Amino acid sequence: MSALPSVDGFRFYPGLLDAAHQRAMLAAVQAVWQAAPPYRPRMPKSGQPMSVMMSNAGRFGWYTDKDGGYRYIERHPQTGRPWPAIPAEILAVWDMVAQCPQVPQCCLINLYRDGARMGLHQDRDEEDFAAPVVSISLGDEAMFRLGGTTRKGGTRAMKLRSGDVVVLGGAARLAFHGIDRVLAGSSRLVPGGGRINLTLRRVTKAE
Ligand code: SIN
Ligand code: FE2
Repeated sequence: MSALPSVDGFRFYPGLLDAAHQRAMLAAVQAVWQAAPPYRPRMPKSGQPMSVMMSNAGRFGWYTDKDGGYRYIERHPQTGRPWPAIPAEILAVWDMVAQCPQVPQCCLINLYRDGARMGLHQDRDEEDFAAPVVSISLGDEAMFRLGGTTRKGGTRAMKLRSGDVVVLGGAARLAFHGIDRVLAGSSRLVPGGGRINLTLRRVTKAE
């Protein structure tokens, strides 16, 4: 047997969003950035800056800093204002693929520029893992790494392109994942270059 991870509940929708849809998503992200500018989060304890810039839409925004660690907060850390609502175009993607009756409560917006990457991690700062995480890729291509639910065992790499959508549900909800690297210049979608990733999540337990 190979060391490939168990990926039950992992679903991949390559090219789900066509070029026009990708431009509409980009415009929606830019509108969120107007109200909630991207900032650079810092790792817990070390305070080391992450290479990815982040912002959020929805009731909750994912955040990390030196003293508070990984958590969800209801206001932008710099402006103090509530996060903007999740744009309808983005909610529509959840409705297409999530197979979940509840609406997402957070849209984390990751911006990868200048060699930014994201180490292997689980998304586990939510109260409940019943709902999936839905991930939308826009702009430059990226090498995504997917593992199992423990750090032991194998991982596999796959390329995510602009318009691709990934769902981490079921057993894969707690799968380790990360971004090894972004292929700079592989897309012209994002002004100034780079990659945008949107992840939609539920944060609280469903009533
Ligand atoms: C994340 O895990 O938050 C981001 C994954 C990605 O950028 O595709
Ligand atoms: Fe993640």
